[in-house]
Order: sequence, then C-alpha cells, then structure tokens
Amino acid sequence: MKTNEVCNTYPGTLANVGEIRALDFPLFDTYDRIYLDSSATTQEPQSVKKSMYNYRTQTIRGSNHSKNSMEAREANQRFEESRHKLELFFNAKNYVVAFTGGTTDSSNWTALRFPLEKGDMLILTSIEHNSQIVTARNMAQKMGAEIEYIPDNTANGQIDLKKLQSVVANHKKGKILLNLVHSSNVTGIMNPVHEIRQIMGNRGFIYLDMAQTAGHCPIDLDSLDVDFAGISSHKMYGPMGIGAIFINKKSIRHIPNTISGGSAVKLVSHWFTAYNDGVTRLEPGTQDIEGAIEWGLTIDYLQKIGMANIAAHDSALGKLFISELMTIPKIKILGPTDMKLRSSIVTFTGKAFGTDHEHLARELDKKGISVRDGCFCAHIYVSKQLGAPDLVHEIRTSMMKLGIFNDVLMLPGAVRASFAFYNNVDEVYKTAEAIRNIMSTY
Ligand code: ALA
Repeated sequence: MKTNEVCNTYPGTLANVGEIRALDFPLFDTYDRIYLDSSATTQEPQSVKKSMYNYRTQTIRGSNHSKNSMEAREANQRFEESRHKLELFFNAKNYVVAFTGGTTDSSNWTALRFPLEKGDMLILTSIEHNSQIVTARNMAQKMGAEIEYIPDNTANGQIDLKKLQSVVANHKKGKILLNLVHSSNVTGIMNPVHEIRQIMGNRGFIYLDMAQTAGHCPIDLDSLDVDFAGISSHKMYGPMGIGAIFINKKSIRHIPNTISGGSAVKLVSHWFTAYNDGVTRLEPGTQDIEGAIEWGLTIDYLQKIGMANIAAHDSALGKLFISELMTIPKIKILGPTDMKLRSSIVTFTGKAFGTDHEHLARELDKKGISVRDGCFCAHIYVSKQLGAPDLVHEIRTSMMKLGIFNDVLMLPGAVRASFAFYNNVDEVYKTAEAIRNIMSTY
C-alpha cells in the first residue's frame, strides 16, 4: 500500500515524521509541494523561526564589540553559546570554531589563508565541488606549489587511495594540503576520512567540506581529526548566510593574521598592528549574531530528534528511492547504489543521457516536486560521471583558454533528488511514479 499510512513503518524512518511535518513543516502541505532539494538548501522548522521572531521582537540588540552594556553582554553571551553548541554538536573539543558565510566561504577561507609555498603540494580529488578547486588551485599556482588530482577510478566509485598514498609518499618535503569532500553533492559517495587521515601523515593537512553531511548524520570531528572543516547553517535547517570553519587547535598556528577590523586587532599604531589572540582575530567586524543565535536554536531542535535517527531516516528514504528508480527503464543512477558507500543524495539521468535533465526537472516541478538539475557546481565530476572521455576535457580546456564558450562546451547534466528528515515514504513513491510517467511521454 503506497499511501501515507506506510510513512511511519518503513524500517529506519522516523516514527513521528507526520507529527514533525504538521508542527514544523506545514508549508509542504499548504503549497502541495514535495521538496527534494535539501542538498541545495534545507527548510527551517517553524518553531525555530517563531523563537527567533520572539527574540528579535523582544530584545534590544547589541554588537559583539561592546562590553559594558546589557544589550552587548546578552548578544555576546548568546553568540558564544551558539559557538559552544557547534563544538558540542560536532564533538569538536580539539577545534576552534570561527563563523563564516557558509561552506563556500569556509573553503575559500582556507584556500586563501593556508600558507602553501614553493615545494608544498595541493591535492584535489576529482569528485570535488568547484569551490574546493578553483581558489585553492589559483593560490597553489601563484605560490608555485605542486598540484595533484586523485581520481575516482575504483570499482565502487571511491577515490583511489593507493594513488593518494603514492602521491603523499613521493612528496618527500614540504606541506601537503588535501581538499576533500565528506559526501559528494552529486553521487552522495562518502569519503573514508579516517583512512585518509592515516595516509596523509604528519605533513598532511586536510580541509573537509562537510556541507552535505552536517545535519544529515552524526559527525565526530575529534575522531576524524582533520585540520579544517567547513559547514553551512542553511544546509542543516538553520538560517542562510552563516556557516563555520572548524580549525584544529594543532593547525591554527598555520593560519596567519590576514584580516583586520573591530575585535580582530588589539592595538594599531602608524606602522604596526598587534592582533588579538584566540578566535576573535579570525572574526573581524560585527558578526552575524542573530544568524548564530538562530543556528543555535536549530541545533537544539536537531538534538531533540537525534542525529542517529535523522541519519537512519535519510538513508532509508534514499535506499527506497534508489530501489524505485532501478525499476524505471532508461534511468541511470550516478555513483554506487549501496547505501553503505553513500548518503541519500540521488542523482540520475533520463532517456537522452545527460541532455534531458532540464525537461525532467521542469516536468517534476509542474507536478509539485522540487529537484535540482544541471552539473551541481561539480563540473569535473559530473562530466566524468556522464562518460565524457579525457579527450573531451582536453578539448574543453583548450577552448576555454582561447576564450571560446559556446554550446559545444556546455556540460551535459543530470537530475538530483535529495532527502531530509521531513520527507516521507509517500513522497518517495509519488516522485518515482511521476518520473515513470514523464519518462513514458518522450
Ligand atoms: N549548493 C550546492 C548544491 O546544491 C553545493 O549541491
């Protein structure tokens, strides 16, 4: 029986998903929408929005620079409470948490500040999001550091750890920075971070992009022991425009004082600046205090549901959706289908391999189903996943260098459905049925 009644009985799903939706996500029913684009941005619970509304309408706000006013003290206290909530939520006792504008900002933050020099090496993987590649590559090129890519050429679609091992072993001197995504925003494939940490050894630094895992599964940063990690609030059910960078206390000495502003500096003379100690040197100017407070409220909300429960729910829906897609002729799922290797982000192609994604997404939209389509800002990975041979990459590079950007260069794309704890089994079946119907009409 493919109706709402089964929502609460599929193994792994949250027993109270109906209640959660009614209380905190009523807009899906109000607008009759099935929202499957949580990898792009998640929805914020109504109760968090209401608490924040109360806070904003009943509080005289203060800035984090001032100290001797009630308003500033309260603002500071709540701002710091949110920082602490992030530390606890990600078990990050060994880290300093600095607020940023989001994961993209955190990736660029690290790329611009990590002191790569001549003789150092930047390692990128071929499954990274563009934000993990471009600025870091520009900086490495500018500083004369070597650059290596680790391909995803293993049988199960994971990155080639043997290649990583040999690249690290052959780089005998100098620092190594690896930009690594925790879970791909295209195929949902998870990287084995513990194993990669071992391979990187003492000279190796890891920046982990956790945009797609934060808020979807429990994360223990102390155990992962990466050097830097970036997250976005809006991808974990919080407000937009704020994120964080976790900086391992053993790695923070590598981060220079490159920005200034209120709080970041202790004393400025005509020709000299004394920077502040601690995290304030990384957070110049008035911070997004309200965003941080709201994010903290979201974290409280997630804690109540329980991250293990959320992870089980997401995974159960992803698994069910994959099994449904596999019954639809011509649909091809990108990446592994084994849920042990991946998250519940499911990207697929339709009939005209790689060129009908817009048609599929638009038709789904007309039926009230939100998905994302295109290349998901992961051009290298999507192109490879869609079967573009290396020659195509070479031709594309040559044309880009000549400044030629025409349709020949345009990347093919795919359709992505991504799940969250507010989705239910009924939505999975309805979406699969909608895709089946659309596929039968062209
Ligand atoms: N916002 C990007 C996405 O939708 C990362 O995948």
